[in-house]
Amino acid sequence: MMDTLRIGIVGLGSILPMHLTPIVHFQDSELVCVCDIKPDRVKAIETKYHVKGYVDYKEMIQNERIDAVHVCVPHYMHPIITNYALTKGVHVLSEKPMSINYEDGEKNVLLAKEMNLQYGVIFQCRYNTASQLVKKYLDNGALGKVLSARVVLTWDKPDSYYVLSDWKGTWDKEGGGVVIDQAIHSLDLANWFINDEIESVQANLSNRNHKIMEVDDSGEGFVKYKHGSTLGFWAMNNYSCDEPIEIRLNCEKGKAVLSYEKAEITLNTGEVISAVQQIDPDINYEGGKDYWGFQHIKQIRQFYDSVKAGLEPEISGREALKIQKLICAIYESSRTKRIVDLGSREGKVK
Ligand SMILES: NC(=O)c1ccc[n+]([C@@H]2O[C@H](COP(=O)([O-])OP(=O)(O)OC[C@H]3O[C@@H](n4cnc5c(N)ncnc54)[C@H](O)[C@@H]3O)[C@@H](O)[C@H]2O)c1
Repeated sequence: MMDTLRIGIVGLGSILPMHLTPIVHFQDSELVCVCDIKPDRVKAIETKYHVKGYVDYKEMIQNERIDAVHVCVPHYMHPIITNYALTKGVHVLSEKPMSINYEDGEKNVLLAKEMNLQYGVIFQCRYNTASQLVKKYLDNGALGKVLSARVVLTWDKPDSYYVLSDWKGTWDKEGGGVVIDQAIHSLDLANWFINDEIESVQANLSNRNHKIMEVDDSGEGFVKYKHGSTLGFWAMNNYSCDEPIEIRLNCEKGKAVLSYEKAEITLNTGEVISAVQQIDPDINYEGGKDYWGFQHIKQIRQFYDSVKAGLEPEISGREALKIQKLICAIYESSRTKRIVDLGSREGKVK
C-alpha cells in the first residue's frame, strides 16, 4: 500500500481551492504537479507551492510519476483527460459532470474497471451534514419509501457571469446550462435519496433571460421511478441572488426538508430531527464559495482512502452514471419534446 499519494491537478480555475487545500492539508497526499493551458495560472501555483507546472496535460501525465489526477477543467474535457489518465495507469478524480453525454462516461467507467483503477466523480453535496442525515433516515427505514421529491433552485447567473467565461453558456463546452452545471447537485441528491431505477423523464428547458449565451437558464421536469416514486424539479438562473437550494421529500413515514446548510425531518409520529452544516473552522479555502458546500475535502478523503485500499470509491464513475443518465434524459426530453423512456434502455455498465 502506498504511504503518500502523489497528486496532479489539471485545471487551475475557480474550483481549484476546493481541491488544492485538501491535497496540501492531508498528511498522506503530496501535490506534485499542476497543469493549465493558461501559463500565468501555472506559474502562480508553481511558485507558491514549489511544484512542477505544465501547459499540456498529456506531457504532465507522461513525465510525472503520479498516483492520481484531479480533473478540474471545462465539462467537455472531463472524459478526454479522464480517458488519457486511465490509459496511462493513473487514478482519476473528476469534477462533475463526468461528461457531457452518457456514452463517454460509460466508456471511462468500463476502462477504469479494465485497468483496475479508481475513478471518482465529485458530488460533494452528498457529504453535507444535512444530506447525510436524510440519507441515514432513508437507509435505516425510519422515513420509509420516498413517495415524491421536489427540487427547487433559484440562483443568480447574469450575463456578466457568462461574459467572464470562455466555455460556460455553450452547448459544445458546457453541454447545457442550469441543469447540467448548477441543478445537477440537487438532482443528484434527490436521485440518491430515491435510490431506484428511473422509468421515464419529461422536461422543458429554455433560455428566458440571457442574451449572450445559448444554453438553458430555466427548466422544469418530472421523473418517474420503477417502484412508484416521483421527482419534480424547477431550476433557474434568473433570480436576483443565490438562494439556498431546497429539496423536499414526502415519504411513507414522514417528511424531510433540506438545503445545503440544514435538514429537518418530521416523522409521522411527531418526532422532529434536524442537522446543521458543520465546517472545519481551521481550513481556509482562499476563494471557495458558500453554495459549493465546503465538502470537497470529505469526498477527496474518501477517494484517497479507496485508492489506498484498492476499493471502489463511494461516488465512483459507476455511481455517477446514475445522475448522468438522468441529466442526459432531461436534455433529450426537452430537445425532442417527448417523454424519455429509460426503463426500456439497456446500459453496458451493471
Ligand atoms: N463541485 C462543485 O460544486 C463545483 C463548483 C464550481 C465548479 N465546478 C466544476 O469544476 C470544473 C471547472 O470549473 P471552474 O469554475 O473552475 O472553471 P474555470 O473556467 O474557472 O477553470 C477551468 C480551468 O481549466 C483550464 N483549462 C481549460 N482547458 C484545459 C486543458 N485542455 N488543459 C488544462 N487546463 C485547461 C482553463 O484555462 C481554466 O483555468 C467544471 O467542471 C465545473 O463544473 C464544480
